[in-house]
Amino acid sequence: MKDVYILGIESSCDETSIAIVKNGRENIYTCIRTQMDTHAEFGGVVPEIASRMHTEAITLVLDDVLAKSKITWDMIDAIAVTYAPGLMGCLLVGLEFAKTLSLIYNKPLIGVNHIAGHIYANNLVEKIEFPTLGLVVSGGHTELVLMRDDYDFEVIGSTKDDAIGECYDKVARILGLKYPGGPNVEKYAKEGKASYNLPKPMDDDSLDFSYSGLKSFIINLVHNESQRGKEIDKYDLAASFQEVAVGELVRKTRSALERYDLKRLIVAGGVSANGYLREELKKMCDELGVHLSIPPIKYCTDNATMIAAAANPLYKKGLFSDFSLNAKSQEYIFDKKD
Ligand code: KG4
Ligand code: ZN
Repeated sequence: MKDVYILGIESSCDETSIAIVKNGRENIYTCIRTQMDTHAEFGGVVPEIASRMHTEAITLVLDDVLAKSKITWDMIDAIAVTYAPGLMGCLLVGLEFAKTLSLIYNKPLIGVNHIAGHIYANNLVEKIEFPTLGLVVSGGHTELVLMRDDYDFEVIGSTKDDAIGECYDKVARILGLKYPGGPNVEKYAKEGKASYNLPKPMDDDSLDFSYSGLKSFIINLVHNESQRGKEIDKYDLAASFQEVAVGELVRKTRSALERYDLKRLIVAGGVSANGYLREELKKMCDELGVHLSIPPIKYCTDNATMIAAAANPLYKKGLFSDFSLNAKSQEYIFDKKD
């Protein structure tokens, strides 16, 4: 079979990235330009600045990929691009760029959902085998997804309110830690002891999650202590939060694996970069004899490699997009179980 080379483009948030991936699994070359330092000054991503920076960076990123990969346009089979979910202005920069390249070089266009991208980042490590459970943990998602085939997603558990990444970011803010929140909470947690007594979220036997109660408890605790003139131990509170938040993810993932008798687990989304979560999942999977796949950290955070990887099954099925493809700030790709 002929090799398939897909050029992927990602610009949904604050990383401008282009990659070329062979057969959905082999990263030929990836370029990522992050805007993190710029947004850190404002405490979070400023959408207008982000889209302008994508516009400034995107042609330079493409030049770098073409120069370093040594891949020529005649070798490229398709152009893949994130069209949803994300910041509207940012998505549009990538999407218009992809449409232009598709038109000029006469290559099929493939629209990719960003969350599908995070899931297919697993194919860059080892081929996803079905059936598998997927734990999707990002800024907007906390889901347990049963996958029986490519792009066949059945949600068997999800958050009732906040996503886990969102909760990490809010806890970082209340502790006065800099953007990006998640990695900073992890850093503080490493130095602390889980000495605060925090409520367990959704302490039941369902497969669902709830993080808003835990978040509100921490906000109230910090406010009350500061009104009493008492100091919070940021390190210990970060460690206590992480123990409860991650503990809950691991407990429900374990229930799902047991209930559906699954022997494989893949993990996807920005929060899968968290070292404590990675360790705890590894321990649990070893105990259950479950095969665990988590992408290396460079593929957990936003990148175009995962977008090109996620486009491969769509390419094989001939699922191309036409130029009416529009950017969507929100799109839910999973089916609900009921
Ligand atoms: O998957 P992602 O790019 O978000 C969406 O696509 O929605 O992940 C971003 C989220 C943020 O909430 C960020 O704080 C969190 O992932 N995150 C982490 C870590 N690295 C990123 N959370 C905890 N620990 C980390 N090391
Ligand atoms: Zn992401």
